Amino acid sequence: MSQYKVLFVCLGNICRSPSAEGVFRKFVVDADREHEFFIDSAGTGSWHAGSPPDVRARKAASNRDIDISSLRARQVRGDDFGAFDYILAMDEENLNSLLGAVPQTMRGKIHLFLDFAPDLGVSEVPDPYYGGENGFDHVLDLIEEASRGLLAHIDQNRVG
Ligand code: 4NP
Repeated sequence: MSQYKVLFVCLGNICRSPSAEGVFRKFVVDADREHEFFIDSAGTGSWHAGSPPDVRARKAASNRDIDISSLRARQVRGDDFGAFDYILAMDEENLNSLLGAVPQTMRGKIHLFLDFAPDLGVSEVPDPYYGGENGFDHVLDLIEEASRGLLAHIDQNRVG
């Protein structure tokens, strides 16, 4: 069976995108649909490659029964554009970095993640890195809503 391949992208791949990877994976595992998805995350920057998620992101996720401690940061690669079906940017800066690198024929794979949560009325998951612990809970709230929306979108657009 073919899988939907979903890549979450932020700047460092230590705060927002590993959180999104963990949340979305929990949603599909809880729905007993893990086999339908390949889920990953990456950063447009390379500074944190090889690092685990920020301790504040791990703690906020753990409070919601999500374990992201085994994830390790990596940078987006050229072959990601062919490998993934949905490439989801956390903010406009990362969206623009991706749009600057993607081959023209694959532009349609790239979206702002919060486009899948239109009721939120915001388009970006804010960078929590230089803020306090509260920022990480807010990030998770946004990510949960967009994860529900993404799953609904995938189900509505399912072929076969
Ligand atoms: P992320 O957060 O993009 O959500 O992983 C950041 C992590 C590190 C930095 C910026 C944002 N940094 O500048 O090191």
